[in-house]
Formats: sequence, structure tokens, C-alpha cells
Amino acid sequence: MNLINAEALARCIAKDRKPESFQWLLNGEQTVKTVRLARWFFHRAKAPVLMTAHRRQLTGRVQSTRGGAPGGRALPFVIAALFFAACRPDMMNQPKAKALSESDFFSNGANARQPPAHTVPRGDAREDIAFYTGQTNGIYVTQLPVKLTRDVMSRGRERFEAICAECHDRTGSGNGMVVQRGFPQPPSFHVDRLRNAPIGHFFDVITNGYGVMYSYATRVEPEDRWAIAAYIRALQLSHNAKPSDVDPGERAKLEAKK
Ligand code: HEC
Repeated sequence: MNLINAEALARCIAKDRKPESFQWLLNGEQTVKTVRLARWFFHRAKAPVLMTAHRRQLTGRVQSTRGGAPGGRALPFVIAALFFAACRPDMMNQPKAKALSESDFFSNGANARQPPAHTVPRGDAREDIAFYTGQTNGIYVTQLPVKLTRDVMSRGRERFEAICAECHDRTGSGNGMVVQRGFPQPPSFHVDRLRNAPIGHFFDVITNGYGVMYSYATRVEPEDRWAIAAYIRALQLSHNAKPSDVDPGERAKLEAKK
């Protein structure tokens, strides 16, 4: 809202019009809020100075002023409130074409062009089916389709603990805080069925949800879904590790510590 509108608004308030009558100045809720705020200031200050000034301007008549000081004090607030409260509509009212709306810009009446045949927008091709669905030919992949590095694993751990552990708990046994407060309990990741499940299954569960667990597709990017899946595999291994799984050098160190 610019100063001219602020002044017009103040004038409407001075004439005690209903907010609806100057909806054109601002938008919906914003208007009502601004007007309420402005009225509140007028009310507190008994509205003498500004209203008098406006009445004089509007009617040419001079009104008596009761207690000028409070109005004087409120004036900067009123102006600041009017000035700051409604910066938004300008941004909202910018000229733009809404998706699928009509336009006379192109001869066919659409507001956007069709992409040329056999092309896809850059970055949206999603050609790597295994990476984006966790499946090849409808069968879950059994190998991680990204390179497993220490960084991927730490990212998986960090994401798992932030996004999944509230239900699955940090060990994956399915006893997270949300479950302790009444959410249905998920199965432990350490049961045979899930230990033997292909890694693509974990990707799929995060993408599409599973039973009462909702989808995390909008919250976890595919890259992170694989990182989490890899970390779940690591959790599963850690719960069933045998001494022979440990690197001999490391095992010797561990045994020396005993
Ligand atoms: C709000 C709680 C909640 C959160 C958060 C949650 N889950 Fe689940 N999850 C569940 C529940 C409950 C089930 C069991 C669903 C059922 O069987 O109906 C489940 C099931 C699963 C299963 C087992 C599917 C099967 O084959 O039985 C996997 C794997 C899984 N979740 C992974 C994840 C991962 C990875 C995350 C984080 C990205 C996550 N979950 C976040 C509640 C949650």
C-alpha cells in the first residue's frame, strides 16, 4: 500500500465507512486487519487530531479538538501501521499468467507454449528409473543405485534420526517417542522379513508410504531416500554382527580392550 492509499484509507475511517466499502484499496483479510488496527489507535487516542484534520479537509468545517496530545502521540503509529501493514497486495497483484488460464498473448489462446515434441524440461527427465522408483521392470532393486560413501552414510544417519526415528527409534526397533505416545507401532527393521527385503523396498516405503505410514516423498529427496535406505541396512547389519564381520585388525584392537 502506498501513502496515497494510506491517506484514502484514513479518510474512509474518518468518515466511519465500513471496511468493505474500500476493498479496492487492499485485499481481504489484510484490509480488515489494517482497519481494525487503525480504529484501535483512533479509539485509544480519542481520534482527535487526525480525524479533525480529515474532517476539515473533507467538509471544510473545523471541529473542536479534545485532548490533542494523545492523538499526537498516536499519529506516527497510525501512519506506521497503515504504511507497513499492507505491503503485500502489490506483490499479489502483479501481472502474471495463472496455470492453464486463457490469454491473448499466443494465437491459440493458451498462456504457455507446449514443449516441442520429444523434448522434456531440463532436469525433469528422470531417466534413471531405478534411482527414481527403486525398481527395474517392476522388481525392487537389490543394489544401492548410488555410490556408497562415508558421506552418504552420515547423511543417511542424520536424516533417519531427524525424520524416521521419532517412530522407528534410532535403532530401528520401532519404539520411537511418537509410538510411545500412541501412534501404531511399526515393525522392527531387525525382523527377518525386513532384513531380507531388497533395498528398493525401503526406497519405495519412503516414497509411497506403507499402511498407516504416510509418504515422505515431498519431504525427502530421492538422493536422501537412498542415503536413509543405506543407513537402515547398516542398522540391520549392526544388530546381527558376528565377530568375524569385523576387520581382523580392528578385531584385534577390540579384543585387546576386553
Ligand atoms: C509417524 C510415524 C512414522 C514415521 C515418522 C516413519 N514411519 Fe515408517 N512406519 C510407521 C508405521 C506405523 C509403519 C507400519 C505401517 C503398517 O504396517 O501399516 C511403518 C513401516 C515402515 C517400514 C516397513 C514396511 C514393511 O514392509 O513392513 C519401513 C521400511 C519404514 N516404515 C521406513 C521408514 C522410514 C525410512 C522413515 C523415515 C523417512 C519412516 N519410516 C518414518 C511409522 C512411521
